[in-house]
Amino acid sequence: MKFIVDSADIGQIREAYEYLVCEGVTTNPSILAKSGRNPYEVLKEIRAFIGKDADLHVQVISTDYDGIMAEAEKIASVLGKNTFIKVPVTKVGLKAIKALKAKGYGITATAIYTSAQAYLAAQAGADFVAPYVNRIYDIGNDGVAVVEQIQNILDAGNYKTKVLAASFKNVGQVTAMAEIGAYSATVQPEVLWKLINNPTVDAAVEAFKKDFETLTAKGKTMLDV
Ligand code: E4P
Repeated sequence: MKFIVDSADIGQIREAYEYLVCEGVTTNPSILAKSGRNPYEVLKEIRAFIGKDADLHVQVISTDYDGIMAEAEKIASVLGKNTFIKVPVTKVGLKAIKALKAKGYGITATAIYTSAQAYLAAQAGADFVAPYVNRIYDIGNDGVAVVEQIQNILDAGNYKTKVLAASFKNVGQVTAMAEIGAYSATVQPEVLWKLINNPTVDAAVEAFKKDFETLTAKGKTMLDV
């Protein structure tokens, strides 16, 4: 499963890229709002850091067709190729996705809570569909099961559309995506580091070190013996 960073904080993005294999960055209006800065200034900084070949997903704000089309044009012209326009899957959103694909834009169909939305977005030609795993649980449905249904629909229909699972609040939700074979997942740094931070592992590593020092001397490693 490909891993994407769900953040607009350049420090957090840098850290994720330093330690992990990352395939791009996703943002949304709420994530951009946390920066308190001009959105294009932040997004250009992210683009410069991840490079022109990496995927950057940027959401439109407009909810009307003409507004979505105009925003998509500006976002793509400012941020360059491999920028995916995130369009929420509403009725108007579907019309825009269809038209934007016809014009050659990369599209991430977002705000997906149901497999029906994902199916229609795939039909419209979206490159990615972004189901909101945790938010689906928030409304009393099974987020992992919905992504599995979506994956099955895409496979059964032989769509080129890929899953970009989003909205995670715990480790289990993320690993469940890898288990069901989701193509990619975008994870916020707050959840991301929980995948590896584990005091039990740290204690085990520390005990190995101490045992070796008992054999040799404090501070010794395999370089010194
Ligand atoms: C992707 O960028 C999505 O917008 C994001 O994962 C949603 O996350 P949230 O449900 O924590 O707001």
